[in-house]
Formats: sequence, C-alpha cells, structure tokens
Amino acid sequence: MKAEYDYKVQDISLADFGRKEIDIAENEMPGLIAAREKYGKDKPLKGAKIMGSLHMTIQTAVLIETLEELGADVRWASCNIFSTQDHAAAAIAEKNIPVFAWKGETLEEYWWCTKKAMTWPDGSGPNLIVDDGGDATLLIHRGYQAEIDASILDKPTDNKELQIINALLKETLKQTPGFWHKIVEDWKGVSEETTTGVHRLYQMKERGELLVPAVNVNDSVTKSKFDNIYGCRESLVDGIKRATDVMIAGKTALICGYGDVGKGCAEALTGLKARVLVSEIDPICALQALMAGYKVVTIEDALSQADIYVTTTGNCDVITAEHISKMKDQAIVCNIGHFDNEIQVDALNQWPGVKKMNIKPQVDKFTFPEGNSVYLLAEGRLVNLGCATGHPSFVMSNSFTNQTLAQIELWNKDLEIGVYTLPKALDEEVARLHVEKLGGRLTRLSQKQAEYINVPVEGPYKPEFYRY
Ligand code: NAI
Repeated sequence: MKAEYDYKVQDISLADFGRKEIDIAENEMPGLIAAREKYGKDKPLKGAKIMGSLHMTIQTAVLIETLEELGADVRWASCNIFSTQDHAAAAIAEKNIPVFAWKGETLEEYWWCTKKAMTWPDGSGPNLIVDDGGDATLLIHRGYQAEIDASILDKPTDNKELQIINALLKETLKQTPGFWHKIVEDWKGVSEETTTGVHRLYQMKERGELLVPAVNVNDSVTKSKFDNIYGCRESLVDGIKRATDVMIAGKTALICGYGDVGKGCAEALTGLKARVLVSEIDPICALQALMAGYKVVTIEDALSQADIYVTTTGNCDVITAEHISKMKDQAIVCNIGHFDNEIQVDALNQWPGVKKMNIKPQVDKFTFPEGNSVYLLAEGRLVNLGCATGHPSFVMSNSFTNQTLAQIELWNKDLEIGVYTLPKALDEEVARLHVEKLGGRLTRLSQKQAEYINVPVEGPYKPEFYRY
C-alpha cells in the first residue's frame, strides 16, 4: 500500500531537472534497461516491499525505477548524509515513490530517514533491503536485540552516531513496542553493495547474529572489479577538483590502501601526472603497488612530501589528527572509503589551538598554531559522493544489475540464513550486456576449444577461485 506523496526531499521543484538527467543515465545503464526488458512482463518482484539504503543519486533513481518496473513496492533513504542528489530525490518523489533523503542531513535526520524508509504507512516493514554499508541492516539488528535486552542501549559510548541510534531505538521501544520483531518477521533478505557492509555481514554471521539471508553483491566480479576500481578512477578526482580546483600534475599523493578502490585511485592520480605513493598493511597488495611502479611507504614517511592524501582502506584511524598536524602546508586530505572513521576528524576538531574555517559546503580549512593549514574534504566522508556526484552511470549499471538480480534471487528462493554471492553465470551475463553496449565483439569458443580447456561453450568460463 502506498500513501500518496509520502516523502521528504530538499526541493520537489527539482523533479523536472532530475527526470532529464535520469533519461540521460538510462542510456548509459544497459544492464538495468535489459533487466526491465527481460523481466518487466513477468514481474519477478511482484508483492515485494523493498527498502533501499543507498546513495540517492541519479543512477540509483534508475535502479529504483527498475525495481518498481519488476513489480516491487519501493521506499528509499540515502546511506550517507552528503551523497543525495536533490534533483534525483525530487524526481523519485514526484513519481510517488516514497523517498527520504537530502544533501546535508544531520546525523539525527539521517537515522530518522533510514527508519522512515523502512516503515510502510500501515506500520509494516520491508521484505527485502538493498543496503550500502549495512546501516539499515545494523538498525534492524540492534533494534531486535534491544527488544530482547534493552540494557544494551544504556552502555556508555563515546561514539556520537551510536548515541543517536540508541536514542532513536529507545524512543521506538517506548512508542511502538515489538516494532523490530515485527519488522524481522516480514524480512526475507538483504543484498549488500559495498566492501565495508559485506565485512559487517560476515562478522554478524560468524557471531551467529545474522537474522536473514544476505547476498554479497560487492564480490560479484562485475561489481568490485569495476565499480570499486574504474568507478573510483573517475570519481575520486572529480571530487577533489570540484572541491579545490587544485592542479594534480606535479603534486605528490599518498593513497592509503591498495585494494580495489586504492588501485583505481592511484591510477587516476598517476594519469594526471601526480607522483603517487602507497601505504599498505598487506604484503601482497604492497607488492602489487610496487609492480605497478608506485613507492610503498608508511604515512609517517609521506608526511614531509605529500600534498594530497586519500584513504581507501575501510579501516579506522588510518590518518590520525597527529598525522594531519604534521602535514605540509596546504595539504588536501580526503577519504573515499565507506565510513568517515578512516580519518580522525573528531580529534582534529579538538586539536589544541587548531582554527577551523569553512570555505564552502564540504570543504574546511584547519590552521594549526604553527601556521600550517590543511584542507579536509567532505568532513572525512566519501569524497566522490560528498564533493561530486559519485561514479558514472555506466559502471553503476554493472553494480545495480547485480543488485536487481540479487533481489530477484532473495524474493524467489528460500535461502537459508547465510551470506551468498551470485552465480558466476549471472556475473558473466552482466558483463556480456555491457560489452555489447560498448561495441566489443566476443570470440566464441569452438566445441573443440571448449573441451580442451574444459568449460561449456556458453560459460561459465572460469573456476570460482579465479581472481581476474
Ligand atoms: P579492499 O579490501 O579491496 O581494500 C582495502 C585495502 O586497504 C586492503 O588491501 C587492506 O590491506 C588495506 N588496509 C587496511 N588497513 C590499512 C591501513 N591501516 N593502512 C594501509 N592500508 C590498509 O576494499 P575496497 O573494495 O578497495 O574498498 C575500500 C573501501 O572503499 C571500503 O570501505 C568500501 O566499502 C569503500 N568503497 C567506496 C566506494 C566509493 O564510491 N566511495 C566504492 C567502492 C567501495
């Protein structure tokens, strides 16, 4: 059931502009359009109530409308306070799809939006969740636990965000007792978009806490080896440029972490002729960085040299406030990993004698008593979505086609509680659609060749352990 015009966005008059950009994006999202053509008639998501917690961008609007076209009843919130594109949210609201998202939410508003998006007008919850980073999943699990043992909400914590979540859950416990158990009763599964959210899922599964089956979309090859690498290769620099207009050529940059995201970021900055340094904890990734021609250093080594710092680790406290205090004057610091704890922003704000000046939204200058200044982008939140508009449509089409297939799997199969990846045949199918769109011509195996390398002519072509 859909209430009429159930939404909260920044400015609904932006809907026309949003619609025009959605039209452009559709041309670049062949996987989603093919999914509409293939499944639009059969409506494999008919009857499914889907809640999304994923950056409310133009590309996401194409995903949302695809899920609706496949029969789902969708409600949406963003998974970051800075990542919503207000015209995209307006266009979705205008279509009477409930959306609760605007650029520049407070953390209290963010968690309000998340809960609102998972509450249907009749008080029921979603059957399926599309999550990015795991916040929607976390909220439900914590709410469920708190209904069993409310004292978990009283444990003292320095974590501001957890304090906000706890306050929201306490209010729910008081006003609608049993709300979270009811939500879990209807909840059939979650598909998770990103590395950090997937880590959270595996941890929950290991601890025996996971309440529903989950699809790890991130580790489809056509997701992490494309979005994380080639998406960041384009959107990192877009974020840095829009924020600072700085010339990249000739600068020295430190990329912290050389996983998929780090590889894309390093390549982008090298392409613009920066001298790129890499820091890593994993000898395999460090060796890969060396083979690609980068110097592998520690952050401490880089402090006297680097002009630009980018964290890509999915880990906490990678750049400390102390590191920042020792950086070169006019250094730029940003994060492209999922959460803002890669850089110690709170400690930076409290650094003795530091002066903070806001230059424009999502760009702050910190000046230390010694006179050196540093620019922090997007308050340490993901720079490509905070300071620019995230990845291009084409690469998001790969990711979101996987999301659509994951949602179909979860709705139509009775999976046991666990964390799954999509079958390789589907991964290859997603790739095939995008190869065709770019005019690539695939070579077809002869029967003899297929037998010689022991794969079916139609694929899958690689064993599960192949690393691409
Ligand atoms: P990954 O696991 O492939 O790479 C992370 C790398 O960081 C690993 O190689 C790890 O060894 C290294 N690392 C961990 N701690 C470190 C430390 N203290 N210092 C130096 N290196 C360290 O993960 P992936 O896929 O590259 O994702 C990284 C983060 O980016 C995640 O939080 C993910 O959710 C996020 N992400 C963000 C996107 C965006 O558009 N902003 C897109 C895709 C992923």
